[in-house]
Amino acid sequence: MKAITYTEYGSPDVLQLREIAKPSPKDNEILIRIRATRVNYGDMLARKFGSVTTKEFNMPGLLLLPARMEFGIRKPKKNILGSEFSGEIEAIGKEVKRFKVGDAVFGYRGSTFGAYAEYMCMPESGLVTHKPANMSFEEATLIPYGALTAYSHFKKVNIQPGQKVLVNGASGGIGSAGVQLAKYFGAEVTGVCGTAKLNFVQALGADKVIDYNKEDFTKNGEMYDLIYDILGKSSFENCQGSLTSTGVLLYASFKVKQLMQMMQTSKSTGKKVICVLSSENLADFNFIKELVEGGKFKTVIDKQFSLEETAEAHRYYESGKNTGNVVISVG
Ligand SMILES: NC(=O)c1ccc[n+]([C@@H]2O[C@H](COP(=O)([O-])OP(=O)(O)OC[C@H]3O[C@@H](n4cnc5c(N)ncnc54)[C@H](OP(=O)(O)O)[C@@H]3O)[C@@H](O)[C@H]2O)c1
Repeated sequence: MKAITYTEYGSPDVLQLREIAKPSPKDNEILIRIRATRVNYGDMLARKFGSVTTKEFNMPGLLLLPARMEFGIRKPKKNILGSEFSGEIEAIGKEVKRFKVGDAVFGYRGSTFGAYAEYMCMPESGLVTHKPANMSFEEATLIPYGALTAYSHFKKVNIQPGQKVLVNGASGGIGSAGVQLAKYFGAEVTGVCGTAKLNFVQALGADKVIDYNKEDFTKNGEMYDLIYDILGKSSFENCQGSLTSTGVLLYASFKVKQLMQMMQTSKSTGKKVICVLSSENLADFNFIKELVEGGKFKTVIDKQFSLEETAEAHRYYESGKNTGNVVISVG
């Protein structure tokens, strides 16, 4: 089968098309014929992980060492990237109960990766479920990472109808899901992103959009019940004046300073900092799938590449020129 492999960290050029053996499923596994995958932040970071500095790593520096051990210190341990996928089941192990041959599925591999290939095996107990019928393979593959991450983060804050939510980084994988989920929970949503992606964020349903190049949301006099900061670009010091008396600054990316602020504010009945790590599960994934089927969640494809063009897709994503998602169509 064809797969995009990489044996060293670096620029998109390290992603090479190779012919490798087609896997076969173990008793508890399904064999998926991949139809679509994508480029997301995790794929890009893992591709160049060897040179990522503690500053570029948007998490506490202490976590960089275990992450390097997992990914491989000098060269990648996992040679096929691709954390999100959609496809069709081609074969099943004899213990598999949830799926049958021919089922259309989509799912998330997280840091296990492996979807930049024509075929991939995974346990049926993994983050894989039936594909929503109202989405193409290309659209469905864009759902899992952002939606699962944002949903698991929002579980920490219990968004109420009518609350005002600002998503800082609203045009990215997590933020675009955050905008749609906050709307689903009945919030009034403001999305912050760069100039080129304002229309994209508006099309996702944001009530207001702010261009971070032109306006500092902490200085416009608006108040929010929740500020969801994806890249950790804001500070508690600057955001305090924009948070309601019980408002929360929720960080998806954070350093030790924000963790300390979380500890300091955790017992207060007033404004809080919360740093959160996602914990995805199948029940959440099925909930997301129902939202998609109910038309509550959409995806916007900016550009589609073939598996052979994966390096080009990474180059395009990394240039930041995309105004929506970058999809890789397989086969
Ligand atoms: N806590 C967790 O559980 C968890 C899980 C996964 C990932 N993460 C973290 O999430 C981050 C990646 O998120 P993602 O996949 O959504 O990334 P992404 O797709 O690259 O999106 C990044 C977003 O940030 C915006 N942005 C860039 N510069 C900005 C600025 N100065 N001010 C405000 N917004 C700015 C971008 O807007 P434009 O493109 O319009 O410029 C875009 O909307 C990483 O830091 C990763 O470590 C956390």
